[in-house]
Amino acid sequence: MRLVKLIANLGYGSRKQVALMFREGRITDPQGEVLYADDKVSHDQIRIDNEPLDPPAGMLLMLHKPAGYTCSTKDPGAVVYELFPPRYLQRSPVLSTVGRLDRDTTGLLLLTDDGALLHRIVHPKSQIAKIYAATLARDLRGDEAQIFASGELLLESEKSPLAPAALEVVDSRHARLTLTEGRYHQARRMFAAVGNHVETLHRSHVGGLDLGDLAPGQWRPLDANDMDRLFGRPPA
Ligand code: URA
Repeated sequence: MRLVKLIANLGYGSRKQVALMFREGRITDPQGEVLYADDKVSHDQIRIDNEPLDPPAGMLLMLHKPAGYTCSTKDPGAVVYELFPPRYLQRSPVLSTVGRLDRDTTGLLLLTDDGALLHRIVHPKSQIAKIYAATLARDLRGDEAQIFASGELLLESEKSPLAPAALEVVDSRHARLTLTEGRYHQARRMFAAVGNHVETLHRSHVGGLDLGDLAPGQWRPLDANDMDRLFGRPPA
């Protein structure tokens, strides 16, 4: 792909703006030698204003989603995309969240511009476990783990029962829930179905991936090792 198109697709500007950046000498190699629009160089050999380029198409990012942000691009309130440089919203192909977390759910959220990868992650066949830590408004009754594991729990307005899900009780108001599906408001609706109410919900793991030391609002690109962890198993 020609350099102007490649850089414009990463959201740095229109093709016209990127052509101007070349003429201004802002696009260089790592040694500071000015590059020209028809040079043939690899992605990692390009600098803009001395900074490496954003990851190429096919990227997968992990965000520690804070409370109060929605996973939509249209919401009038705060959206997760605001937590990235504005050019990330101008990329082609576009960056999307891999599934959604509710506005008030915190924790591990993946984003990608790779549609095939997105489908592979969310497809029920992949059986990628998502682990949620829930704080509850009422004491657990004691029968929730059995009900969630039964594979027979039918949520209101759903046609098919939920796949078996594992619940580990931490104490009377705290539990760890492992889901392999991603139905609408699933964790909150599951606890509502057993007479409880979720006060806070935090996703700690997707597959074998966890947030590591990412603070709320921080994000990082994922590499091949992370991908192996994503499709691997969460810790026992
Ligand atoms: N289940 C929910 O209820 N909300 C989320 O954000 C994720 C899973």
